[in-house]
Amino acid sequence: MSNKYQVPRGTQDIMGDDISLWQKAEGIIREQCARYGYQEIRTPVFEHTEVFKFQNDSSDMVTKEMYTFLDSGERSLTLRPEGTKGVIRAFVEHKLYGNPAELPAKLFYLGPMFRYERPQKGRYRQFHQFGVEAIGAKSPLLDAECIALGYDIAKAMGIKKVKILINTLGDDESRDAYRNALKEHFRPYLGELCGDCQRRFELNPLRILDCKVDRDHPSFASAPAISDYLNEPSKKYFEEVLAALDDLGIPYQIDSRLVRGLDYYSNTVFEAIPEDATGQQAAVFAGGQYDGLVEHFGGGSLPGVGFGMGIERMIDLAVEEGGIKSDSRSTDVYVISMGDVGSYALKATETLRKEGFRVDTDYQGRSLKAQFKASDRLRAKAIVIIGEDEYSNRLAVVKNTATKEQVTVSIDELTNTVKGFIG
Ligand code: HAM
Repeated sequence: MSNKYQVPRGTQDIMGDDISLWQKAEGIIREQCARYGYQEIRTPVFEHTEVFKFQNDSSDMVTKEMYTFLDSGERSLTLRPEGTKGVIRAFVEHKLYGNPAELPAKLFYLGPMFRYERPQKGRYRQFHQFGVEAIGAKSPLLDAECIALGYDIAKAMGIKKVKILINTLGDDESRDAYRNALKEHFRPYLGELCGDCQRRFELNPLRILDCKVDRDHPSFASAPAISDYLNEPSKKYFEEVLAALDDLGIPYQIDSRLVRGLDYYSNTVFEAIPEDATGQQAAVFAGGQYDGLVEHFGGGSLPGVGFGMGIERMIDLAVEEGGIKSDSRSTDVYVISMGDVGSYALKATETLRKEGFRVDTDYQGRSLKAQFKASDRLRAKAIVIIGEDEYSNRLAVVKNTATKEQVTVSIDELTNTVKGFIG
């Protein structure tokens, strides 16, 4: 039986020196989003289930992986499994489509998402996703720019070995033609495919291509490719996306089998994976263009494009490749006290903090040795020592831990002395 006082399966505590990695990653993300003109949006972690669950949705995420519950008011709520739908709900709810001159709305989000998946490395039940949505405009240039943003963030984190897989699902007409072709192709093998694929066959045969169970079935290798079913406008759109990526110097590989795991995409779809990746779960960021979502939420027929990036996966890859590094905790000054000095040492600590130094001290009257150890552990650049003599004469001893230089000064000189030692 699992220990109820441990984190639930598929979740983790993020703490210690790792926190510095998360802060760096989030800093890079915010900086790049500002450069690209994306503004942050924070939507609720749970929404009415209807926000995520559409009729006839065939994705695993919606049909199998959602954390859905009734609250005490008998409302069906769902912990968000992704960011896109909540953001589109907010876009429509706040009528961000109201002023066409302000479109596309470029929004980014960052936070925990929840999926009931089988946990393994890089796959969690609570994970953190950074995502962007550019809503209200459709252009191959916007798609390319969106990919460029994800790519730039990966580079800024020090990830060199990432490649973009890209495909198009075409417009409605092309996709309908392709769906029919897939149905014709898979129909004779239907009895040999898994129950999910049989359901997908009816709801959305494209999803069959994404099946993890049947992917080695011989019918998969001979399945038709979307490229043969694209109409002219869809072909042209895709060529323009690729041309823009070429111009921006972003390497990509066309993957005509890439359909993505979610139902709402049309035209451009993409996934960024580590160059040496083999498994299907490896995408560090992934997304695409969508036409129907805004309309679904009642906001008129406006298109969008975006991606989601798994922050855990990005950090793992960046660390593996020697990109961003964690910093251990450090402090500028450690204040050591000896004997009965009342709150005098704490006061000195506060004085230095107000001057902008990072300062820590002892609260438990520990031995001198223990306090020196603590200052070592925190890699203090200076130590302030306060004993009963210093307390009664309003003095402090200040020591530079690098040069070992030590002076006794009046408490009013404390700040200047520390500044002189460690700047
Ligand atoms: P997604 O492919 O389901 O797309 O997820 C995007 C990224 O989130 C994945 O590439 C991966 O890095 C990360 N991710 C997903 N599930 C997990 C998990 N269980 N554990 C760790 N990381 C995970 C979406 O969510 C779409 N909303 C993306 C999008 C935005 N499309 C358009 N706009």
